[in-house]
Amino acid sequence: MRAIEYRGAGGPEVLTEVDRPMPVPGPGEVLIKVAAFGLNRADVQQRRGVYPPPPGASDIPGLEVSGTVEALGEGTVGLAVGQRVCALLAGGGYARYVAVAAGQVLSVPETVDLVDAAGFMEVACTVVSNLFLEAGLARGDTVLLHGGAGGIGSMAIQLAAAAGARVLVTASSEEKIAHCLALGAAAGINYREEDFAARTKELTDGAGADVILDVVGAKYLEPNVRALAKDGTLVVIGLQGGAKAELNLGVLMAKRARVAGTTLRARPLEQKAKIVAAVKEHALPMLANGTLTLSIDRRFPFTEAALAHEYFDSGQHTGKIIVKF
Ligand SMILES: NC(=O)c1ccc[n+]([C@@H]2O[C@H](COP(=O)([O-])OP(=O)(O)OC[C@H]3O[C@@H](n4cnc5c(N)ncnc54)[C@H](OP(=O)(O)O)[C@@H]3O)[C@@H](O)[C@H]2O)c1
Repeated sequence: MRAIEYRGAGGPEVLTEVDRPMPVPGPGEVLIKVAAFGLNRADVQQRRGVYPPPPGASDIPGLEVSGTVEALGEGTVGLAVGQRVCALLAGGGYARYVAVAAGQVLSVPETVDLVDAAGFMEVACTVVSNLFLEAGLARGDTVLLHGGAGGIGSMAIQLAAAAGARVLVTASSEEKIAHCLALGAAAGINYREEDFAARTKELTDGAGADVILDVVGAKYLEPNVRALAKDGTLVVIGLQGGAKAELNLGVLMAKRARVAGTTLRARPLEQKAKIVAAVKEHALPMLANGTLTLSIDRRFPFTEAALAHEYFDSGQHTGKIIVKF
């Protein structure tokens, strides 16, 4: 089968088209004929050599795909050959075929384009697990989303707003803020021009945000804790601004606040299956009836996957970038 591997570490030039043996679905697994895969920042970090695949995962990059079921492993139930599906992966998505545990596969609604569905699973699972399962975001809460215009942010805005939360976002330009407002954000903060913590306080009459979803890490730890409301939760899911920072525990205690950190890729299968089930219950029906949009920025052909990485690196995109066969 055709696949893409990284030949060394570096820029988009390390993406190399190769022939690889077709994977064989094990017990409880599904073999998917891939129609398209979604790009994620983790793919770029892996390409740069700073985010190796977890033990047991394919060295082929790719954390989410859409396609059709090609074959079922022994004992796999609930899915049929030919069915349109999308899947959450620990790796292996940049290939014509991928095998994955059935618990990480969802049916793609008839109303949704199969190629675009490639951009659903990684973001939906990240958003649902962190905003709702981890931070307990509820109706009436205020949530602050960093990187609001990105793939994660674009879905987080919609799911949080649909759950009855008031959504504040940060982004680097007025254009990106406009994208966020169109998806349902109540207000946008241009972090290049404003102190986001002070502005969050202003926008919440001094209370702060009940939940913060952070993709920046160290650089934002102090202002994030400053922007948190009493009993608030900060969930760190990205380290674009570094991993080590100092935290004033006194401030955290006074606010009865929590700081959590999670990754999705290395979670055990049972946890992933639980998250996928929550996505099926809460996000998939919205995708089916059109109240949740996939916010796809651009689709590239498989032979231009390196160009897709170049575009991702440029940081111009809003929402998701897809590569299709
Ligand atoms: N832990 C997990 O399980 C998990 C799962 C999936 C993704 N993630 C992480 O979530 C983050 C977002 O992923 P994504 O796929 O949505 O990527 P993306 O589409 O590239 O979005 C990232 C956003 O972050 C913003 N950003 C970049 N550098 C920044 C900086 N230095 N300060 C503030 N904002 C910055 C960018 O917007 P601006 O131009 O507005 O700055 C961009 O829109 C990544 O860090 C990724 O690794 C974590």
